[in-house]
Amino acid sequence: MKNNSKSLVKLENVSVDFSISNSLFADGKKKLRVVDEVSLEIYKGKILGLVGESGSGKTTLGRASIRLIPTAAGKVFFNGIELEKLRKEELRIMRRQMQIVFQDPNSSLDPRMKIKDLIGNPLLVHRIAKNNELKDRTAKIMERVGLSPDEMHKYPHQFSGGQKQRISIARALILEPEYIVLDEPVSALDLSIQAQIINLVLDLRKELELTYLFISHDIGVVSHVSDRVAVMYFGRIMEIGENVFEDPKHPYTMMLIESLPGKKIKPVGKPPRGEPPRGEPPRGEPPRGEPPSIFESRSGCVFYSRCPIGDEECKKIVPQLKNGVACLKKNGC
Ligand SMILES: Nc1ncnc2c1ncn2[C@@H]1O[C@H](COP(=O)(O)OP(=O)(O)OP(=O)(O)O)[C@@H](O)[C@H]1O
Ligand SMILES: [Mg+2]
Repeated sequence: MKNNSKSLVKLENVSVDFSISNSLFADGKKKLRVVDEVSLEIYKGKILGLVGESGSGKTTLGRASIRLIPTAAGKVFFNGIELEKLRKEELRIMRRQMQIVFQDPNSSLDPRMKIKDLIGNPLLVHRIAKNNELKDRTAKIMERVGLSPDEMHKYPHQFSGGQKQRISIARALILEPEYIVLDEPVSALDLSIQAQIINLVLDLRKELELTYLFISHDIGVVSHVSDRVAVMYFGRIMEIGENVFEDPKHPYTMMLIESLPGKKIKPVGKPPRGEPPRGEPPRGEPPRGEPPSIFESRSGCVFYSRCPIGDEECKKIVPQLKNGVACLKKNGC
């Protein structure tokens, strides 16, 4: 990305911890670091895709980026303003600019509420519109996402999965945000419906100049929609950039691509199978090793236990992101 791209969302060394209660722990509690010193920027009007295996911390990072959950360390900036520094009321107002669409509309849409309320209530809560204006704005946004305003008196169960996700998107849009976290927005949908929803969010991005964090474990989807991609593993960003899938540098990114069924993405410019160049991981192999346990204390690179090119140094030194890659063997730091 060119240096003149303006960042809308900026994370600086952000960490998030969760507290787990379990009688197996000495004091009955344990703190788990789920997001570990993540720094990244999401540029205005652009889509940053976030991929990684289940449990790598994608949702947690997305939520932290809009301060839906507190951070244990680091700073989150929105339009240059540090969210942590805002007072409660200021944050509430700022939140209009930052919305989230969840993976499963069945659990994110209250089944007891009518569509008009599910979509329109944020306008009421933020005291932006009421009565006829509220109804008009709700109808308009319903139309924009491909729903008929005539259906605003219905309940979520009267809609299909794809329509429910359109309702979630309408609800996220009603406050005219600048930034939307799309957390696996199509994972729960059939393939044909997935394409419709993806086209909708891409059209909306263009028309409304939105900025997205697009979270998915589906590399095909992420590669299709994103301007830049961040690859997350065990709470850390392994690689970030514009050509992450075309020209993967990190052994984990390579492993993710190699493990795709039918290899949906064929990295452009990738050398043929067979003997890899010196220092490169073998190609065409299934993922090896197990991710470390979240309960283990960590040292060195989190990917070490599965890495085909890791050595003793990697066991001890935590690699930092340099030129978009966090790997001692690739960037030397
Ligand atoms: N509220 C919570 N309390 C304790 N642990 C949590 C909580 N939410 C998430 N975790 C743990 O944090 C880790 C990261 O979870 P997260 O949901 O962010 O991962 P993810 O990459 O979004 O996974 P998925 O692809 O399955 O959605 C997981 O080990 C998860 O079990
Ligand atoms: Mg998730």
